[in-house]
Amino acid sequence: MAAAEPQWVLMATGRSPTNIAVIKYWGKRDEALILPVNDSISVTLDPDHLSATTTVAASPAFPSDRMWLNGKEIELSGGRFQSCLREIRKRARDVEDKKKGIKIKKEDWEKLHVHIASYNNFPTAAGLASSAAGFACLVFTLGKLMNVNEDYGELSSIARQGSGSACRSIYGGFVKWCMGKNDNGSDSMAVQVVDESHWDELVIIIAVVSSKQKETSSTSGMRDSVETSPLLQYRAQTVVPGRILKMEEAIKNRDFDSFARLTCADSNQFHAVCLDTSPPIFYMNDTSHRIISLVEKWNHAEGTPQVAYTFDAGPNAVLIARNRKTATLLLQKLLYCFPPQDNDLDSYMLGDKSILSDAGLQSVADIEALPAPPEMKMPNQKFKGDVSYFICSRPGAGPKVLTDESHALIDSATGLAK
Ligand code: DP6
Repeated sequence: MAAAEPQWVLMATGRSPTNIAVIKYWGKRDEALILPVNDSISVTLDPDHLSATTTVAASPAFPSDRMWLNGKEIELSGGRFQSCLREIRKRARDVEDKKKGIKIKKEDWEKLHVHIASYNNFPTAAGLASSAAGFACLVFTLGKLMNVNEDYGELSSIARQGSGSACRSIYGGFVKWCMGKNDNGSDSMAVQVVDESHWDELVIIIAVVSSKQKETSSTSGMRDSVETSPLLQYRAQTVVPGRILKMEEAIKNRDFDSFARLTCADSNQFHAVCLDTSPPIFYMNDTSHRIISLVEKWNHAEGTPQVAYTFDAGPNAVLIARNRKTATLLLQKLLYCFPPQDNDLDSYMLGDKSILSDAGLQSVADIEALPAPPEMKMPNQKFKGDVSYFICSRPGAGPKVLTDESHALIDSATGLAK
């Protein structure tokens, strides 16, 4: 491109959901390519509640690649960003924007630098798989900008190289990450099990648990587990393969009993592997354990599971209720035990706030009037402040392009983050 050419900025904006694993990924057989030791299955969460929005821009005026996360510039030097950028650039094709008079040839992409701005619609510090949504969004949106023609399986395998769990955020509904066999990772990619409309009765309530402790990152935690936990080997080789088959069946048949049993068992086994790691890793805390105990007792008392729980690399509880009625009963129990600290109900329930009125909880007085859940050990005990807030969500759709310019996070005139 000649220097006299006008300095245009070409942009694309996309939005990608986050996901929560119901059969966990824990352990890599290849660190650089991010190849796992077992298959995993997740549910994609509604992007209206938990998602990343990313704008990517290219211009001959950009002297280097730059990135902003939630408005703050961050280093792009990490190998994982570079892998995703390299893999998408390799597959870039000719792009023409007649309206703006821009023509980019396939081979020009190698020379063009990009600016990336990303934003999460949920607190990044909450420990809710922000890297999954972020890398899925980066790969999906870069693919759009560079007119990449690859199918979603291929895109998922590129997102995987940003963060393993990101490969599952390329689809909506329930998603399986097939570990693959090849050493080069070409067959380690995600596939959709069912879309988000298949099991739309499910309600997902996340309790963001207060914690002062800085948690071990998933990346280093699973490295330690692979090196030291004998249970991890047994889990990956003997337990997970059978669970994957059963979980796929349960999801396809909307068999909540089986789904809930497998989800809880797999979360507990993942945390057992963490405990079996040397030195042991503790992701859950007393609040997490209290929530497990409440759900277990309730499920037992009902005779069939009403709610499934699952915990990732932190103390937050992800609770999946079989339907809205069950979700309202769950919420009543949870809010009795964990009432809001500053009497502000509106900021205590994020996402689908209508669950509060469905549960008959419109004010703090409504919460104070709740009866003690029979599942509690000591019925009068309340744990104000132990949950920071709740998010109510549901199974949701995969990534999409946001065409309305108002969503763009980069200023098309300056090429910088807004
Ligand atoms: C506990 O995908 O964050 O959430 O591949 O090293 O980036 P890296 O790890 P990451 O690990 C997620 C672990 C998990 C379980 C899961 O999502 O399957």
